[in-house]
Amino acid sequence: LASIDVDLAPVAVGQAITVTWRGKPVFVRHRTAEEIESAKTVNLGDLRDPAADDARVKKPEWLIVIGICTHLGCVPLGQKVTDPRGEYGGWFCPCHGSHYDTAGRIRKGPAPANLVLPTYAFTGDTKIRLG
Ligand code: FES
Repeated sequence: LASIDVDLAPVAVGQAITVTWRGKPVFVRHRTAEEIESAKTVNLGDLRDPAADDARVKKPEWLIVIGICTHLGCVPLGQKVTDPRGEYGGWFCPCHGSHYDTAGRIRKGPAPANLVLPTYAFTGDTKIRLG
């Protein structure tokens, strides 16, 4: 199926959901003010795969990324509040120790690139269509 609609309204601030799209996990995180702030205040020169936070979200409170580590394809941890989220507060890939930040950018470990952004659009205040 090419496109799916996802209702974000039930996802509280600080929580995340995983949806399957085209056979892949898509991570949707309702970022806290602190997570947004920390994503925005990074010096882009410090990034392995430089990208401003603004370029990775359509709305600051919603970060939506494909949940597949860009190293060798494991699914990183960090979707549950009890999961380890790594040193930069985003996701941690336990396979070989890659750390992603609150914009899904690679910050430490062997992964070469940021978590990939899926194609999506907001179709309402808290509704998206993936694909
Ligand atoms: Fe994620 Fe290797 S697959 S660190």
